[in-house]
Amino acid sequence: MNILLTGGAGYIGSHTAVSLIEAGHDVAVVDDYSNSSDEAVKRVEKITGRSVNLYEADVADKKKAMEILKKEMPDCIIHFAGLKSVGESIEKPIEYYRNNIDTTLTLLECMRELGLSNIVFSSSATVYGDDHTPPFTEEMSKGMCTNPYGWTKWMQEQMLDDAQTASEKGGDWKKPLSVVLLRYFNPVGAHESGLIGEDPQGIPNNLMPYISQVAVGRREKLTVFGDDYDTPDGTCRRDYIHVMDLAEGHVAAAEYAAGRSGTEIFNLGTGTPYSVLEMVNAFSKACGHEVAYEIGPRRAGDVQDSWSDATKAEKVLGWAAKRGIEEICRDAWNWQSQNPNGYNN
Ligand code: UFG
Repeated sequence: MNILLTGGAGYIGSHTAVSLIEAGHDVAVVDDYSNSSDEAVKRVEKITGRSVNLYEADVADKKKAMEILKKEMPDCIIHFAGLKSVGESIEKPIEYYRNNIDTTLTLLECMRELGLSNIVFSSSATVYGDDHTPPFTEEMSKGMCTNPYGWTKWMQEQMLDDAQTASEKGGDWKKPLSVVLLRYFNPVGAHESGLIGEDPQGIPNNLMPYISQVAVGRREKLTVFGDDYDTPDGTCRRDYIHVMDLAEGHVAAAEYAAGRSGTEIFNLGTGTPYSVLEMVNAFSKACGHEVAYEIGPRRAGDVQDSWSDATKAEKVLGWAAKRGIEEICRDAWNWQSQNPNGYNN
């Protein structure tokens, strides 16, 4: 299939591009590089030995999006493009709603005009909110989000599903849509080559890039956000999934989306939680030295526990995460130690 990735130069997009190419698909990438680098796409080409059609554009720019989609006429769109920092979204809600909602609306308009019918969307476990006790299953109702970023994912899921329902009735739609919503848990790690990985701008918000940057000497120490939770070691638990497992989940989802219609939701996680301190210890083993940390106060908006029930993806897509915490830490360290300053080496 010819698969177009919006935001395909970013962390999850670039790893997914590798897996799609390795599975025999052709890949095109649209990215505005607002939080990514074209170097990531060059490295995807290096890893796979195949070329990627690369377009620099904001997918909310309808004229440009139409031009690119008309040229590519993809069998499937995987929509990664979006702003993704929880903390930043609280400071800049308007920018988050404008950007994330606009890109999805524009894509849907273009798909309707061009008769494109298959879309896989990057959603997040954040849509479960804090209304449920893990493991989270896809049948659970969406919850109350704790920040604007989460609400944008919540709303984009709703918009895609509403468009799917309308498309079944015909009207302006040439074909019924096939929508696959992928709810990611905590993507971490890197491609095993160490050529691509996570390269956050500025101070990392997320745990794993922060630990990696402490380990490589870019930051002094990690602050663990609270050790007074009701968990065995007092720190929060998450479902950390290797980004290459996640990437392979997208291949299965895109292949599943083709040739059907409807909306289907899948959790992409491992089903196994680890605490913050367990991650710090596993990383110390992988890098061969202690990762310095101190215990700080809780971070506002954090839920104590989040992990998936990952059985639906296994049953329906035949996909399950294969890589464990050792591979996660080994590959994250391999990337960080080879690229201490990310793509700006
Ligand atoms: N943590 C620290 N110190 C840090 C960073 C994180 O102790 O410097 C802790 C957090 O408190 C949390 C855990 O590490 O307990 C994981 O935090 P992350 O920021 O890495 O991940 P979150 O689970 O908070 O966020 C992730 C995704 C979001 C998504 C959210 C909810 O990054 O996109 O899950 O599903 F919205």
